[in-house]
Amino acid sequence: MASDEQVQKTIADCLKLGNEQLTAAEIENPRLDVRLLLAETLSVDTSYLFGYPEKLLNDGQFRHFQAMINRRLKREPVSKIIGRKEFWSLEFKVSRDTLDPRPDSETLIEAVLESLVDKTESIKILDLGTGTGCLLLTLLSELQAAKGLGIDISDKALAIAKDNAEALGLSDRVAFQLGNWCDGVKDGWDIIISNPPYIGEDEKKILSPEVLNYDPALALFAENNGMKDYQTFIPQAASILKNNGMLVVEAGHTQAEAINALMSDAGLMVYPAKKDLGGIARACIARKCI
Ligand SMILES: C[S@@+](CC[C@H](N)C(=O)[O-])C[C@H]1O[C@@H](n2cnc3c(N)ncnc32)[C@H](O)[C@@H]1O
Repeated sequence: MASDEQVQKTIADCLKLGNEQLTAAEIENPRLDVRLLLAETLSVDTSYLFGYPEKLLNDGQFRHFQAMINRRLKREPVSKIIGRKEFWSLEFKVSRDTLDPRPDSETLIEAVLESLVDKTESIKILDLGTGTGCLLLTLLSELQAAKGLGIDISDKALAIAKDNAEALGLSDRVAFQLGNWCDGVKDGWDIIISNPPYIGEDEKKILSPEVLNYDPALALFAENNGMKDYQTFIPQAASILKNNGMLVVEAGHTQAEAINALMSDAGLMVYPAKKDLGGIARACIARKCI
C-alpha cells in the first residue's frame, strides 16, 4: 500500500486508501474488511469510524493499519489477521492452527438444540475434531448443566480451544484431550458432534487462497473423496453413544447421503439431514436405539 509519511492520514483517508487497494486486488467485500482492520488498529467499534471520519491516525497506528492491509492483499483472511472470529454470536480466538468457525456449522448447533426436549438436563457431549472448540463451547453456553470433552489430533488447536473455554467462562465444564477420533474414549455420551475434515484432494483447486493457504490442511482434507474420517469415526462413535444418544455430523455439500448410509450401517436410526441457509443438507443426524 502506498503511504505518504509526511502527511497524517484521517480515518476517512484510510478507509479510502484501503478500499482502493483491496478493490484493485479483487478481494471480495473490500469495504467491510477495511473497516474491520481499521477498527482493530484503533481498538474501536466499526461504528466509531463513521462518527469520527476526520480523526487523525498517529504514525504508529497508520503503519499498523498498512501492515494489516498488506497481509489482506496476500489473501490472509481478516479473522486470521485479527486473531478471532464470531460464531453463534460468541467470539472465538483463531490461529493458523485452527479452522475458522463457519456459519454453515451453526446448523449443527441448531440440530442438537432441536433434538433436546429438556435443555436443563446434565448431559455429556463429545466433540470429535474440536479445533477452536466452537461447536462444543457454543453448546455448553446454551446448555447450562451440560459437560463436554473435545478431542483433537492437533495440540496447537487444543491450546486455542482451552483459551476459548477460559474466555467464555466454561473451563469448569469442559476438558480437552489430544487423540485420534474415539481411540481410548470411554462410552456414555448423550451427544457426539463432529465437523471432521471432508474435502477431497480433487476439490483443492476450487478452494480460495484464504482457505487453502491459511486454514490448516489437517482440518480440511480427507482421503477417499473426503469420506475417510467419517468412515473411521462413525462406527466408533456409534459404539460409545448412550442408548438414545444422538450423533450429529457436518457434511460436505455432496456427502449427506453417504454419511447417512454409514450411520445406518453402524446401527443408528437416521433422521433427515438438516439443511443450512443455502439449502445444502449440512447436519447429518442419527440416534442410537437399542
Ligand atoms: C474441519 S475442522 C473442525 C474444527 C471445529 N470443530 C469447527 O467446527 O470449526 C476438523 C478438526 O479435526 C481435527 N482432526 C483431524 N484429524 C483428526 C483425527 N484423526 N482425530 C481427531 N481430530 C482430528 C483437525 O485438527 C481439526 O481441528
